Amino acid sequence: MSMLQHLLVGLGDRAYPIWIGHGIFDRLGEALNTVKFPRKMAIVTSPSVARHYGEAAQEALNRSGFKVSTIVIPDGEEHKTLAGVEKILDALIEQGFDRSCGLVALGGGVIGDMVGFAAAIFLRGIAFAQVPTTLLSQVDSSIGGKTAVNHPLGKNLIGAFYQPRHVHIDVDTLSTLPAREFAAGMAEVVKYGVICDEYFFEQLAEQRENLISRDPGALVRMVKRSCQIKANVVEIDEKESSFRAILNFGHTFGHAVEALAGYGSFRHGEAVAIGMVFAAELSCRLNLCSSQDVAAIRQLLVAFGLPVDPPAFSVKDYKQAMQRDKKVRDGVLRFVLNRGIGDCVMQEVAGLEGLLTDILTT
Ligand code: NAD
Ligand code: GLY
Repeated sequence: MSMLQHLLVGLGDRAYPIWIGHGIFDRLGEALNTVKFPRKMAIVTSPSVARHYGEAAQEALNRSGFKVSTIVIPDGEEHKTLAGVEKILDALIEQGFDRSCGLVALGGGVIGDMVGFAAAIFLRGIAFAQVPTTLLSQVDSSIGGKTAVNHPLGKNLIGAFYQPRHVHIDVDTLSTLPAREFAAGMAEVVKYGVICDEYFFEQLAEQRENLISRDPGALVRMVKRSCQIKANVVEIDEKESSFRAILNFGHTFGHAVEALAGYGSFRHGEAVAIGMVFAAELSCRLNLCSSQDVAAIRQLLVAFGLPVDPPAFSVKDYKQAMQRDKKVRDGVLRFVLNRGIGDCVMQEVAGLEGLLTDILTT
């Protein structure tokens, strides 16, 4: 039996629906018809995702009368580059795509970010839709219009805010996702609970078994609540002038972990898990949450198979790496800190070096 839930990202004339469910993959064409998606389109995907879902996507779209071609590109983080985007653009130009055509991103966050950016810049902007197939992309990267590629000097340095016209999430695609990728996505889900919704946080602990065994009903509820929180934040502050930065809870320290350990050693979500425990420790020392809250956050992350202890680098290394975070403005580092569980605040932290030393050595 299938199940379908609807959400809307309310951005005025750029508002778009999110369909979330299981057993809804073959309704992709129907969904794109409802948003008047261009009749000619390319599915952009990676070899591994194409193997699992390429044919089904093509068939679903053909059945609804779309004229579809498929572009397959590699999807590792190392391919999320301008050269990678150029491969998409080359194919579009060779296949005679014009302004009235569209792109469908079928894959994880790497494919979604690259296709979104290609859609933003091809002929100054064409329609695109997200069909995310990793947990991280279903709960985070497919929503909100951040598109980007990496530069040799840093991650996501080249990009644009460009919203999709539709997001189509079938949690059944998670059945083929490796456990480590699933856990990495769970870090962002736990983040939503910590910063916005205590009840959701508690539900994650309660539903742990069902979620780990990928029970479709439990997944749909969890992904839906995550998307709702993300959409609400994006509606308030689409271009991250300030409020949207709460989504970076755990990311300042997490990015430092990723950079120091060498990109690729940790999945992004794993580094964020370590970063969230660090942020909670910091919040506790600033009397914003209790040590029980820190323990609960740590415990939930561990329960989903995530690492929580920082790798052994010096305080100086961590401090320097955090200063390079692209969220630093005018040399000032601001942290997202949790107020208990279910609320957060953004602030500068005085005496960071002492606090870092205390957290890293106890
Ligand atoms: P990913 O796209 O690299 O996918 C992880 C792996 O899973 C890949 O090897 C992929 O081939 C494979 N895969 C994808 N779907 C699968 C499926 N259903 N079954 C089996 N294998 C599958 O990683 P990700 O975690 O989805 O995304 C990470 C990227 O997202 C990073 O580049 C990050 O910067 C970006 N991101 C963007 C935003 C945003 O707002 N735009 C937010 C968070 C992260
Ligand atoms: N993943 C953070 C954001 O979309 O703002």
